[in-house]
Amino acid sequence: MPINIGSLTLKSRVYVPPMAGVTDLVFRSIVRRIDPECMLATEMVSSKALMHRPEKTRIMDLNLNEKPTGIQIFGHEPDVMAYAAKMAEAHGADFVDINMGCPVPKITKGKDGCALMREPDLAREIVETVKASINIPLTVKFRLGWDDDSRNAVEFGQMLEKAGACAVTVHGRTRQQLYSGKADWDFIAQVKKGLSIPVFGNGDVFEPEDAIALLEKAGVDGVAVARGTLGNPWLIPRITKYIETGILDGPPRDIERLISAYLHCVGLIRYKGSKIGTNESRRHLTHYTKGIVGSAPYRARLTQIENAHDAAVILAELAEMVEGTDGKKEFLLAVEQENFENGKDPGKRDSNCEGSIHAPIDFSAVSPFAKP
Ligand SMILES: Cc1cc2nc3c(=O)[nH]c(=O)nc-3n(C[C@H](O)[C@H](O)[C@H](O)COP(=O)(O)O)c2cc1C
Repeated sequence: MPINIGSLTLKSRVYVPPMAGVTDLVFRSIVRRIDPECMLATEMVSSKALMHRPEKTRIMDLNLNEKPTGIQIFGHEPDVMAYAAKMAEAHGADFVDINMGCPVPKITKGKDGCALMREPDLAREIVETVKASINIPLTVKFRLGWDDDSRNAVEFGQMLEKAGACAVTVHGRTRQQLYSGKADWDFIAQVKKGLSIPVFGNGDVFEPEDAIALLEKAGVDGVAVARGTLGNPWLIPRITKYIETGILDGPPRDIERLISAYLHCVGLIRYKGSKIGTNESRRHLTHYTKGIVGSAPYRARLTQIENAHDAAVILAELAEMVEGTDGKKEFLLAVEQENFENGKDPGKRDSNCEGSIHAPIDFSAVSPFAKP
């Protein structure tokens, strides 16, 4: 059955929720290529920073074909949050998501992220104010509570629903837990029971079987899968297929992982420029190659790459190690095809220019709002 989030109808029950430093435009385009329907979200962006640092609007760049995608904002000043939400709407977001779950001290030491679970009146005011300022659906992501003595996710969710939230995502841990222990899916079930709006259960889904178990145990409408997708975007279509057909596809071939690792790396360099793109891609390359038998020495070298050319060389050697000359040929063919499509030599003409991944940002579209 389709999930309705306000005016937005979802065909998929699978959601890739925000991950700072991960769910950027490049990552989302990789997921979208292999899973046409899952719901996606940007990295979180500070509502306050959006007012003073124009470069931050880049987090809100959306691909033309990536719908449905939401933009996640964080902050605690209702008017500032409304301003950010309007910008998100103008950038083409299908929904705005408010972060009320981030546990990081840098965020919570104000009243942002999960700190809002200790300030339900303020959280309500934020939701009401943001809701009144946009025409697209509003969703909220939160945890079970601040700590074990204050697990208020059920009442908190009910309050958000009353204030105008169209759906919620619940990570089954408290703020105090950060990522320790196991996500409590039973508690997520209680939140689901207490609410009428769609609930996405979140926490510890690393295999398609986990997704089904979470859906069944918590009775939630959808499942949000974050860390499991790191270097493993195929998890999403595998979950989708398993939910929809009961057919459990195996993981991708190692060569496929290596090709995707390269495309991710080169995409980041094209979109973010040589320095930032190379830096960020080192982490992703590590994720993609984890689990490939014998890959440790190659992985160590991948953490040192200076450009996409270095990555291509090391990944080609790895391709040969896993599948011999044919593996290497298949990998290099994919590299050549990418170069042909985007007209660049990896590592040579990739300095601070943007290439194939086009982000249609119209800054004039976001200027009409008076800053609060
Ligand atoms: C690297 C990283 C960055 C994250 N950034 C965000 C964020 O920007 N906003 C947010 O609401 N949650 C963020 N999260 C939390 C995830 O969305 C998710 O709630 C959490 O990882 C639990 O789900 P999982 O077990 O599927 O990973 C982040 C998690 C990770 C690992």
